[in-house]
Amino acid sequence: MAFARLSALLVLALGAVQINAAITKRVTCASGHVTANAACCALFPVVDKLQSDLFDGAECGEEAHSALRISFHDAIGFSIHGGKGGGADGSILAFNSTELQFHANGGIDDIVAGQFPVFKEIGFLTAGDFLHLAAAVGTANCPGAPRLEFKFGRPPPKAAAPDLTVPEPTDTVTAILERFADAGFAPEEAIALLSSHTIAAADVVDVTIPGTPFDSTAGTFDTQVFLEVLLKGTAFPGNGSQAGEVLSPLAGEMRLQSDFRLSQDPRTACFWQAMVNDQERMMSQFKAAMAKLQVLGQDTRKLIDCSDVVPVPAPFAGPIKFPASFSNADLQLACPQLRFPNIATVAGPAPTVAPVPGS
Ligand code: HEM
Repeated sequence: MAFARLSALLVLALGAVQINAAITKRVTCASGHVTANAACCALFPVVDKLQSDLFDGAECGEEAHSALRISFHDAIGFSIHGGKGGGADGSILAFNSTELQFHANGGIDDIVAGQFPVFKEIGFLTAGDFLHLAAAVGTANCPGAPRLEFKFGRPPPKAAAPDLTVPEPTDTVTAILERFADAGFAPEEAIALLSSHTIAAADVVDVTIPGTPFDSTAGTFDTQVFLEVLLKGTAFPGNGSQAGEVLSPLAGEMRLQSDFRLSQDPRTACFWQAMVNDQERMMSQFKAAMAKLQVLGQDTRKLIDCSDVVPVPAPFAGPIKFPASFSNADLQLACPQLRFPNIATVAGPAPTVAPVPGS
């Protein structure tokens, strides 16, 4: 009897602990914003400044796209085995004169030129906090994107990352997967990170056609890129075949050799295909992989969770569609065990994809 009462009390006490853990203390900042930690209050004005000075008033444009790209190029300068840089530490911004020399960082000079003065003006953020907050905010400007996490408190970077940490579109699938594994990412996580190419365009793969998008909806964070990379390629959008480029299905669209090979390789084809028309899967897997990427090399016990300063992205209005004149008959599928979803086709003649302005 006494034992039963003791057990009941224990259950109640445990319940209370769980409830207490669930109630996080909220703080109202002087600005009126509510956040989980008082230290995050300083970031709300920074978010406003990024939106006005960097992202043309909260647009999902070239600067937002490049803010996401530079966060990858910064963070991937890391190895779980050591000796490859400080990871998500902002070294690409702070030591840009070194890291911009690396071939894989082609085109990153534009976003460094755009971000550096804003970083200096803000003054109190480390390069890593600035760069990874900018990536989360820029991504949030794209409808359909998940709301990325932001952890605050990275120390200043100590040194430039070494060369050859950033994968290139000319790399083999084996080399790409080995580099991701060396940084701590499984093949499925690598594909999740490549969701980023849904808001991407190339300036330097073919310099004659800057701003050439990787899918027909570069202003929306949808699964369109996973669909369009699976369509049979027929032509090059610009000055013939360039290194790292393969035939694309649409005029005005660029297809990276790496994206295509990953979509066809037995190690990754099913992860690629599973993303098509599964917005929820893409959002949750991308969010989780980015959360890992953006703290690579950091002591997360020392970081404060300021995710609630990141704006909430607009939802994807969907569904995705085959571009006009395309259908299931144009697919090159490499994961036969997965049923391909039913996707409607846009009406009209085959489109020419417009470049992303500002490139
Ligand atoms: C196999 C791995 C990857 C390769 C080979 C690759 C390669 C490339 C290339 C060649 C470009 C075009 C550069 C130019 O010509 O201007 C590009 C653009 C881009 N990449 Fe990747 N990438 C990879 C992974 C990633 C990851 C993991 C992210 C982010 C998490 C990312 C985000 C972007 C974005 C957002 C752009 C567009 C930038 C803009 O439009 O300004 N990429 N990528």
